[in-house]
Amino acid sequence: MSILVLNGANLGRLGTREPATYGTTTYADLVARIEAVAAELGQQVSVRQTDSEAELLGWVHEAADTGAAVVVNPAGWTHTSVVLRDALAQVDGPVVEVHISNVHTREAFRHHSFVSAVATGVVAGLGVFGYEAALRFLADQGVR
Ligand code: DQA
Repeated sequence: MSILVLNGANLGRLGTREPATYGTTTYADLVARIEAVAAELGQQVSVRQTDSEAELLGWVHEAADTGAAVVVNPAGWTHTSVVLRDALAQVDGPVVEVHISNVHTREAFRHHSFVSAVATGVVAGLGVFGYEAALRFLADQGVR
C-alpha cells in the first residue's frame, strides 16, 4: 500500500503564509522532509498540494481505487467540506488528518472538522512534525 500525502488550499504558501501560526518551513522544505522520513521508513509516498477542491477530491478517489493510505491536511476545507468528508469515507486504508496549528485554540469556526469523523486519527498543533508523526503511525501499522 502506498501513501498519498494531500495538502489543501494555501499550503503551497507555507513559509511566507502567516509564519507566526504556520512556521517558516517552506512547502518545498516540507515535501523534502516528508520524503526523507518516508525513505527512512521504507514507505512509498506521493506528496501533493492543490488550491482546487475538485483536484483534491480526484486524489482521494484515487486512494479509494488503489487502496492507498491518506495523510491529509484539508486546510480551510476541513471546516466547510461535506464533499471531502464523503470522498474520504470511501477510502479503505487509514486516513490521518493533520493540522500544523492547534485548530482548537484558534477561532471557533476552526473547532469543527467535517473530516475527523471519517479519519483514523487526527494530529493538530505539532507544527510540520505532525506529518512525520502521521507517517510514523502508519509505519507502526505496517503501512509502507
Ligand atoms: C490548517 C488549519 C486550518 O484551519 C486552516 O484553514 C489551514 C491550515 C493547519 O494546518 O493548521 O489552512 O489546516
